[in-house]
Amino acid sequence: MVASVVPGLLLAASISASITRTTATLSSNWDQRRSTNITVNPNTALPGWTFVGCFTDANGAAPTLQEHSLIDETNMTPALCMEFCGNFSTPLNFAGTELGNQCFCDFNIQGAPLQVNDTLCNVACAGDSTLTCGGPLLVSIYQNNNEGVGPLPTNKATVGAFEFAGCLKDADGTTVRTLSTPLTVDISDGVTAESCTVTCLENGFTKAGLEFGHECWCDSKFNVALGLIVAPLEECSRACDADPTELNAIDTHQPVGNRRMSGYLYQQWKQCLCIYYQLTYD
Ligand SMILES: *[C@@H]1O[C@H](CO)[C@@H](O)[C@H](O)[C@H]1NC(C)=O
Ligand SMILES: *[C@@H]1O[C@H](CO)[C@@H](O)[C@H](O)[C@H]1NC(C)=O
Ligand SMILES: *[C@@H]1O[C@H](CO)[C@@H](O)[C@H](O)[C@H]1NC(C)=O
Repeated sequence: MVASVVPGLLLAASISASITRTTATLSSNWDQRRSTNITVNPNTALPGWTFVGCFTDANGAAPTLQEHSLIDETNMTPALCMEFCGNFSTPLNFAGTELGNQCFCDFNIQGAPLQVNDTLCNVACAGDSTLTCGGPLLVSIYQNNNEGVGPLPTNKATVGAFEFAGCLKDADGTTVRTLSTPLTVDISDGVTAESCTVTCLENGFTKAGLEFGHECWCDSKFNVALGLIVAPLEECSRACDADPTELNAIDTHQPVGNRRMSGYLYQQWKQCLCIYYQLTYD
């Protein structure tokens, strides 16, 4: 339960550390420009965006930013990428350039990428060779702090009478699904921790799991012992498609044996407590 907030804290810590460093870099570039008139463009972010840092990116299997992507062989710049990611009806929290011509967007930084020295994100942008746009398997990440941009997605420790059970492996090295009944189609308004747990319970199931941003799985027991399938929390790092402020699990790891689900457990005593409070205070 408490552990579920740790990745957010770590991320916040690394973001504030790199913002401090970025500010220092910007001001020293500015001094240099004034004294020598050399045009130094520090990859200035668009208004409301801040540079987070240079991060490793997995090779296609589990991208660090994976909700949307854009390749532009002639116009790519950090500004174009930020504009692209901020242009969706639900604007994304992060934009990242890679290998000069690629742009990726996400609500969250996925998995546990390594933050490396900013100088390693040094490939010239396709749209402006005086700017840099990431590197080979390295993504230059910017964060969107504009008004109307949602908070970073988080796991919920408690959803109704359900408790978060952790990030769980699904069909990991076996064909047995951790929870065997998919009820996604029963949820017309989209899969969230709330809608999935409620739907599982309505169908008589006490275990619920969210996967791949929009899948809801239910069962009356975990088909594999929990102790064997607990995965690091940062592997359940994808935002729910239906509510980007909630975390879900990524399912894009290859091979299929590395699927993940955010698991929830029904707590009978909590339901009793809720009913008790309703009777008492309604
Ligand atoms: C910088 O440019 C300004 C105006 O173009 C000029 O007056 C100044 O001498 C230049 N400074 C240096 C250090 O070249
Ligand atoms: C952002 O949206 C505007 C308005 O729809 C459009 O003109 C512009 O091309 C878009 N920019 C990008 C980078 O997609
Ligand atoms: C990043 O690399 C540059 C160039 O190698 C070096 O001068 C700088 O100290 C490094 N910064 C950090 C934070 O390691």
